[in-house]
Amino acid sequence: MYYPEEVVEEVRMKNDIVDVISGYVHLQKKGANHFGLCPFHNEKSPSFSVSGSKQMFHCFGCGTGGNVFTFLMEYENCSFVEAVRLLADRAGVSLPEADDSEEARKREGRRARLLQVSREAAKYFYCCLRSGQGETGLRYLQGRRLSEETMKRFGLGFAPISGSQLVQYLHSRGYEDGLIREAGLAGFDERYGLHDKFWNRVMFPIQDINHRVIGFGGRVMGEARPKYLNSPETLIFDKGRNLYGLNFARTAKKGNIILCEGYMDVIAMHQAGFTQAVASLGTAFTEGQASLLKRYTEEVLLAYDSDEAGTRAGLRAIGILKGAGISCKVINMEPYKDPDEFISHLGTEAFQKRVEEAEGGFFFELRSMEREHDMRDPESKTAFYRRIAEKLCLFPEEIERENYLQAVAEKYGVSPKSLRELVAAQASRTGLVRPPTRPKSGIAEKNKRNTPEENKRRNQRLLFTWMTDEGGAYFPIIAKYISPEDFTDELYRQAAVRLFEKMKEGSFREADLVSMFSEGEEHREVAALLNERLEAVETIQEKEKALHDIILAVKKESWDYSCRKADQAEVMLRITEARKALEELSKTHISLKER
Ligand code: GTP
Ligand code: MN
Repeated sequence: MYYPEEVVEEVRMKNDIVDVISGYVHLQKKGANHFGLCPFHNEKSPSFSVSGSKQMFHCFGCGTGGNVFTFLMEYENCSFVEAVRLLADRAGVSLPEADDSEEARKREGRRARLLQVSREAAKYFYCCLRSGQGETGLRYLQGRRLSEETMKRFGLGFAPISGSQLVQYLHSRGYEDGLIREAGLAGFDERYGLHDKFWNRVMFPIQDINHRVIGFGGRVMGEARPKYLNSPETLIFDKGRNLYGLNFARTAKKGNIILCEGYMDVIAMHQAGFTQAVASLGTAFTEGQASLLKRYTEEVLLAYDSDEAGTRAGLRAIGILKGAGISCKVINMEPYKDPDEFISHLGTEAFQKRVEEAEGGFFFELRSMEREHDMRDPESKTAFYRRIAEKLCLFPEEIERENYLQAVAEKYGVSPKSLRELVAAQASRTGLVRPPTRPKSGIAEKNKRNTPEENKRRNQRLLFTWMTDEGGAYFPIIAKYISPEDFTDELYRQAAVRLFEKMKEGSFREADLVSMFSEGEEHREVAALLNERLEAVETIQEKEKALHDIILAVKKESWDYSCRKADQAEVMLRITEARKALEELSKTHISLKER
């Protein structure tokens, strides 16, 4: 494990699972547990349960489950280590530096200071907008049809005209020159000394996914150049790994994310209810941003400018998104330039319609390719079809390729047969090119039930759940017959070793068991171990009978298993022993009332 176990456990204990999940899912208390709609699969009635006493969650619908780390890993599509970091941050636990050199510690401290000073600057700009000096800014934003509420939500502000008001303010709050410059908030020259970078502009604070201010964009209120001035990249501001608006968009739950070019576009879309809109940060869309988006969505809708530059940028973005395994569509903005203009002229409903009618990225690419060819010239036309064939070769699955092929054939009026031949020729020349494999979706596949193998595993899970339920009341009873070695599944066995150890110490906690493992898949397995249920077992007699049968079945499988592993000479001996023991056990009455 990357971080010491005690630290991981401390982080877990300081982040109450009900609190954390409530930030993502609307939960309602029912009995001992909280219930809500599962964020990992589509459902209409709540089967997602969160247990405050166990500090675990489990969905009876899709089988996902685990502790607070698992939840973040699934929801944010991040690694265990990242989940630990996020929650440490949330609870103010300082983690030991992975790289705990002096230099690394300094860098962390520097980052924290940069975040502070940026936040302070954002507050300052925000107040200026609402003071007398911000009047022009406020009028400008109102003129662009932004409501007070929208301005607040995005923390919009104003940088006043005079030369170094922000610097002076930050000085008064104890921030030093070096830090102010490093944050990109001020420049320095011989004649004027330290002076504000932004002046007489409306200010757009740029936030990371945790709503922390990491930089600014500032817009002139007229036609001067540059139209937008952006903070330079700093230790905390990586333009290739953040997206404007993602702090809100990531929880918008619209089933897609709209990617556009401008801050104003994002804000206009959010104001119109398209809260899934994000924009890159004044630079071209990057692979880093694509993998960031991949955490939150499978589908991106492009809302780039409708001019030539926008189309070119869009085509590039489609390539990058596809590479990250994200499917994409293109929203047609004609006859307007960008989403902001479209919405202010035609309104929300018209835009919604365009969202629904968005064209598949593939056909968008074909249309722009078509424009490069003269379709009246047979040679150029053939070249165009060859390029289509090339693109079709990029689909790894035959069925998908064939579906597209037929759609293309119909659209361009060529016969599917001759297009297929072109594809075959192309493929034999270059080989079918396979795009990178997609990361797994994060949603647990529904268990395939009822195979004998699965039944055996289920019995082991039932036993495991019983040992941990009711505050561990049944543990001593079951432990008389069962030991960790009886769990034949490797992960179950590891978890059982820990369970027995902790139960005997009297310090067992469900959620701690999950943290032993670092993969999401393993977390789900452990959660399943703690949540296996037997239906229709209610009375104490029924329970005793069920427990008896399950112990017997687990024991039998355990002996079978050890016989399979043992060598010939041992086997005979073991079989005899096992027969005797099983016989004995089958006659034993297991009482749940004894203590
Ligand atoms: P508005 O005119 O305010 O509606 O701008 P827009 O949202 O339509 O932005 P535009 O399409 O002109 O530009 C898109 C994005 O590119 C902006 O949000 C900025 O991040 C960036 N950008 C625009 N102009 C400049 C510039 O002059 N310099 C720099 N560095 N970035 C710019
Ligand atoms: Mn615009």
